[in-house]
Amino acid sequence: MTPGVRVAVVGAGYVGLPTAAALATFGHDVVCAERDEARLAALASGRVPFLEDGLGGLLAQVVASGKLRFVRGAAEAVRGAEFVFVCVGTPEGDDGAADLSFVEEVAAEIAGELEPGAIVVNKSTVPVGTAAELERITGTTVVSNPEFLREGTAVGDSLHPDRVVVGADDRRAARRVGELFSETGAPLIVTDTVTAETIKYASNAFLAMKLSFVNALAALCELIGADVRDVVLGLGYDRRIGFDFLRPGPGWGGSCFPKDTAALVRIAEDAGYDFALLRAAIAANHEAHARVVRKVEELAGGELAGRTVGVWGLTFKAGTDDRRSSPAVAIARRLVELGATVRAYDPTVPPGPSPQDLSGTVLCADAYDACRGASAVALLTEWEEFRGLDFVKVHDVMASAALVDARNLLDPAALRRTGFTYAGVGRP
Ligand code: UGA
Repeated sequence: MTPGVRVAVVGAGYVGLPTAAALATFGHDVVCAERDEARLAALASGRVPFLEDGLGGLLAQVVASGKLRFVRGAAEAVRGAEFVFVCVGTPEGDDGAADLSFVEEVAAEIAGELEPGAIVVNKSTVPVGTAAELERITGTTVVSNPEFLREGTAVGDSLHPDRVVVGADDRRAARRVGELFSETGAPLIVTDTVTAETIKYASNAFLAMKLSFVNALAALCELIGADVRDVVLGLGYDRRIGFDFLRPGPGWGGSCFPKDTAALVRIAEDAGYDFALLRAAIAANHEAHARVVRKVEELAGGELAGRTVGVWGLTFKAGTDDRRSSPAVAIARRLVELGATVRAYDPTVPPGPSPQDLSGTVLCADAYDACRGASAVALLTEWEEFRGLDFVKVHDVMASAALVDARNLLDPAALRRTGFTYAGVGRP
């Protein structure tokens, strides 16, 4: 086996694991550090601790080929490493700014352990200027290499990125980090650190604005009788606009868009700029959640108190088991607040006692059970299995057959023929 570049990856989460697997696939010798014992034990026995298509297979391959191994703790992982990737969470703090405590803890833990000349590569999404702070803590060169992978398609996104962005004040260090990804053939954009950190926030903010735009457009289409799907078709052929990321839904969520848009508003505010455009996109997203709740209320007979409502899907999108900042969870909680009995089903959430984020919601074993006795059912996550349901059976178990399809996943004509009242997003 040809020896590769020695790389450490700190954090075996949604970003760290696909990154470690991809770097190992490119031929580097990767050591991945995790401090959570349960997660480490799962990885040691070949289990991926979250749902990510294809990741288990790729990890098994690179572990078997000796290109990737797991260790406990960052200090052990960085010994002998020429590059140290930091892939830990930066959740939203109380004031909207990113909470950097995990990144700073890692920096402090590795500070005295790094090899001379080692380069720290930060993949975590951090406010502009953080690289300089990490250089001060670690005493070594810190390069910013923002991550653009999506949950659910993380393996493909890591092996075939659209672009690789590397930001460093030391351009030679930046190029060396870029070379780690040369196998991908992706365009390499070398910038200073502040610019690289800004590119990450700008990408997520732009995508979130695009979604808020299409969701607002869908709301307008409902009022004027247009079909948003055809509007998007007409827009998308304009190559300056494109078709991607224009599917209307219950609002955007996940572990990144809400926190990164809030952080960018905050970064702008601290710098003396009122990013009103982005603030409006965030406000429009809350309206999108509220519109789904209003539709459910309307279809349930104008009143939620004392009614049963079915909820299909709880994760923030299909293909992941992640419910962080999920619009589906926000909507389910609001329905509970308004007095409804919420019966929910998601293929990744087992029936039984509700976890904290779903308190007050009854978790069901399947989609039929979730709409038993319901006055309306809301489809909130676009799981494919909802397309294949027996809607005659659904109709028969409901108190009244009314369906809010917040993802435009189903066929309204077929449902109406079966006796459903149907409400989609921005479409007749
Ligand atoms: C997002 C970005 O797409 C990644 O490029 C980025 O690396 C990642 O955040 C991050 O910062 O780590 P992810 O959070 O996995 O990735 O989710 P997306 O696939 O972008 O979806 C975000 C939200 O938009 C979801 O709630 C999804 O349902 C919604 N969405 C997406 C729509 O409603 N319509 C669409 O057409 C696309």
